[in-house]
Amino acid sequence: MRIDLSGKTALVTGASRGIGEAIARRLADCGAYVLCAARSVERVNEIANEIVGAGHHASGVQLDITANDVRERVRVLIEKQAIDILVNNAGIAEDDLFLRMKPEAWTNVLRTNLDSAFHITQEVVKKMIRARWGRIINISSVVGLMGNPGQTNYAASKAALIGFTKSLALEIGSRNVTVNAIAPGFIQTAMTSALADETRTTLEGRIALKRLGTPDDVAFAAVFLASEQAGYITGTVLNVSGGLYT
Ligand SMILES: NC(=O)c1ccc[n+]([C@@H]2O[C@H](COP(=O)([O-])OP(=O)(O)OC[C@H]3O[C@@H](n4cnc5c(N)ncnc54)[C@H](OP(=O)(O)O)[C@@H]3O)[C@@H](O)[C@H]2O)c1
Repeated sequence: MRIDLSGKTALVTGASRGIGEAIARRLADCGAYVLCAARSVERVNEIANEIVGAGHHASGVQLDITANDVRERVRVLIEKQAIDILVNNAGIAEDDLFLRMKPEAWTNVLRTNLDSAFHITQEVVKKMIRARWGRIINISSVVGLMGNPGQTNYAASKAALIGFTKSLALEIGSRNVTVNAIAPGFIQTAMTSALADETRTTLEGRIALKRLGTPDDVAFAAVFLASEQAGYITGTVLNVSGGLYT
């Protein structure tokens, strides 16, 4: 059994590096036409060119998911082609202990990680409903399930994405559109590169599989949830944390 996404168009936010880049590449490997979106337009164009060079289909798209006109930008994008697979992946962390947390750090993280998923999904889902086929995959975090000191803003945004996922899944399941979340644990990307060696070692000790995850560990889960074969899975949270959280 092979996962075949040919004929499907995917939009991946935050595809300029890390988990989003890996998801974009793996969806393309399976035959999807992938719109790789991020603010760094040169980087997403480079990634899309590499995908095309490997014989697959992709385009780079400049998209700031916090821009005031994000809905309009998405509307223009989907005029050209309907999106079958939406991966709300772009996200940021601005960590601080709660008593020291600046209101801007709270607002920036909620706006990027949560509000954007509302705006983008509301635009994209209309055509999925009309087509009676769609896959929405929200990249949450185990931190949204278990909490983490210094991350009240980030954990709140990621827990909210899970509530969003489950509620939307119930609303649009009858239209054959599935909505799922992935909760990665600690994955080796720019977001976790600042960890001190000692912190990393302590962290690895808490992970059942004794290593941080790779972007591809998450990408393979996303490809599965995007597939025809995952058509009876909706409203779920797929934990990809190596057993950090069970
Ligand atoms: N790494 C982990 O351990 C981990 C664990 C659990 C969950 N996650 C989640 O997984 C997702 C990806 O994380 P990552 O580790 O791959 O992060 P990353 O390496 O820091 O990449 C973040 C991506 O989001 C994009 N982005 C950030 N702000 C944006 C904005 N305003 N508009 C458009 N794009 C924006 C960035 O692109 P530009 O800067 O080019 O715009 C980049 O492509 C995030 O939602 C994160 O919370 C990560």
